[in-house]
Amino acid sequence: MANAQQLKSLLRSHTSRDDERFYAVVLQVAASEARKGHQKLANELRALIETARKEKSQERAKENIVGLSTPYGEVSELLDVVSHPTKVSDLILEDSLSERINRILTEQKNLSRLKENSLRPRQRLLFTGPPGCGKTLTASALANELGLPLFVVRLDSLLSRYLGESLSKLRLIFDAVEQNRAVYLFDEFDSIGFTRDVAGEIGEMRRVLNSFLVFIEGLQSNSLVIAATNHGHRLDKALFRRFDDLVEFGLPESIQVRELIKRLLKDFSKERLQWKPIEEASQALSYAEITKAVEETLKDMLINEKEKVTNQALISALTERRLHLNH
Ligand SMILES: Nc1ncnc2c1ncn2[C@@H]1O[C@H](COP(=O)(O)OP(=O)(O)OP(=O)(O)O)[C@@H](O)[C@H]1O
Ligand SMILES: [Mg+2]
Repeated sequence: MANAQQLKSLLRSHTSRDDERFYAVVLQVAASEARKGHQKLANELRALIETARKEKSQERAKENIVGLSTPYGEVSELLDVVSHPTKVSDLILEDSLSERINRILTEQKNLSRLKENSLRPRQRLLFTGPPGCGKTLTASALANELGLPLFVVRLDSLLSRYLGESLSKLRLIFDAVEQNRAVYLFDEFDSIGFTRDVAGEIGEMRRVLNSFLVFIEGLQSNSLVIAATNHGHRLDKALFRRFDDLVEFGLPESIQVRELIKRLLKDFSKERLQWKPIEEASQALSYAEITKAVEETLKDMLINEKEKVTNQALISALTERRLHLNH
């Protein structure tokens, strides 16, 4: 626990809005807790500070965008700031996928060397895959590792909220892309990029798609532009070559199911896990669904003051999730 001196410093830094001082005192508390052997608490405190710092820096970046890119600050309405303190190493991905993500990261980190030699680092990415399998999380991890904010643009709501104006809104967004280096995730990309013959309504969507392609083609800045969709199969295949990399996310295989559950249960006491039935119960579930099932199990254990996580509890939470899906 913080001592009297530290408590006073915390209060003073809070009233004078001195964030850095506040963080420094919390880190001191973390260090003294670690010395007392309270490693878990110390780590939690450090993680909280890291998250707070990131959120602050993203807020500042968003303020910059409002100030810089448009006289009316309109663009801030079109972008959601997403903040999640994930690192690429926290993502559980099959090997080839994680190699691709790391390659993107390495190229971005070596940006100037590549550009000096007239080589273009991967910066226009297409993420496809079912819900809850890491598209947004990966965008977030890339942003964190590059020290950039992540902005999300939902193309479906852009189209529906600004019907008739969506082209000019898209231009505003791309002004921001050019002026402020960040990661820009264009979610629900299929709402503009579906195959030509699927729907009758072409007009505005088609124009938005064409403009989007023109903007990414002529990208000058070092921002990362990621288009994401759950419906990769619905996209016009001709679109794929407009991106530097196509990353296909998938449901977790047994090996990833194990890794995910092990990580989620890391700090809790548990029975020896029986992987076969656990994997069976996880079939067809996404990373997000499995995470929720494990969290349900943990909540139940804590609320009912049970001693450990049991195979039975885990399996029934996973089974319940699968039933949910089928309804
Ligand atoms: N590859 C992964 N490794 C670890 N956890 C994951 C992974 N993918 C998803 N998760 C968990 O699921 C949650 C949701 O994932 P995410 O938001 O990335 O899904 P998504 O692919 O963007 O889905 P949607 O298509 O619905 O937007 C994450 O916050 C995380 O808890
Ligand atoms: Mg997402």
